[in-house]
Amino acid sequence: MTHTASITLSESDAFRLVTALDEDLALTHLAVDAVEEAPGRWRVTLYLPEAPDNGLVAILAAATQALFGAAPPAFAIAPLPETNWVAKSLQGLKPVRAGRFLVHGAHDRDKVRANDIGIEIEAGEAFGTGHHGTTAGCLLAIERAVRTRPIRNALDIGTGSGVLAIGIAKLAHVPVLASDIDPVATRVAAANVRLNEAHPEVRVVTAAGIGSRVFRVNGPFDLIVANILAGPLVMLAPSIRRALAPGGTVILSGLVPPQTNRVAAAYRAAGLRFERAESREEWMTLTFTLPPVGPPRR
Ligand SMILES: C[S@@+](CC[C@H](N)C(=O)[O-])C[C@H]1O[C@@H](n2cnc3c(N)ncnc32)[C@H](O)[C@@H]1O
Repeated sequence: MTHTASITLSESDAFRLVTALDEDLALTHLAVDAVEEAPGRWRVTLYLPEAPDNGLVAILAAATQALFGAAPPAFAIAPLPETNWVAKSLQGLKPVRAGRFLVHGAHDRDKVRANDIGIEIEAGEAFGTGHHGTTAGCLLAIERAVRTRPIRNALDIGTGSGVLAIGIAKLAHVPVLASDIDPVATRVAAANVRLNEAHPEVRVVTAAGIGSRVFRVNGPFDLIVANILAGPLVMLAPSIRRALAPGGTVILSGLVPPQTNRVAAAYRAAGLRFERAESREEWMTLTFTLPPVGPPRR
């Protein structure tokens, strides 16, 4: 990411804008988040892979104009400083607890208590230090899923640092396939898997979505976790459903509250049962299950 486009609005306007941005085909590839800056005032931020050109600025202006009329508030475009955010976020940051999991850097190894499941994440270029609401929300949902149903194998789509795959392997001791579209992330994830001695269970692959053969060979999966964005989650609903074993669980994150209905509708339409939605730091984590196959009819 090199730039952000942000705008501060009332809560209802912010959520209308997030929904509109999410449905705008020219923008679905961009990450968007909404954070409450002050009571009732929400900042909506789009993360841009490069400096916006006139075309993108016009698309953003059209989106706000369609919602707010002839003199809409404008997005403020700003460069993102060149920073290794993961390394920066780990320095001096406390370990993050999510249920039994404690996600920590090397400097906090001694904070892992007897019953904790420690996940050590080295500073790197991939997302997933545990400090984000989506990661912590997924870890909590994973713990619940493993407690509730038998899990024989799992898939972590968009593994980033590998944090969720490592958590599943350490908790459930089952084979986990961890994938990411970004080869930098898979390199970081593989290093973290080894650091956490989860390499006997976790296999890391670089892949966009789950269309390639490696997913068919290793599936179907009892547990699928995907912490990516609302747009890709909606698009992946039918293939995630096909990769899921009967009685399996799907955990999704990377969406903000106004995107929940759209994502939930896509997974219901694919045949999954909605179990719960939980929010952490303005981010939603959704859990779905696939009904087990009933006994054969006589
Ligand atoms: C928000 S990070 C999540 C990292 C980690 N799983 C966590 O929960 O902290 C999303 C990751 O998904 C990857 N990603 C985005 N779209 C993807 C897709 N279509 N297929 C596979 N990976 C994808 C990104 O490269 C990024 O590493």
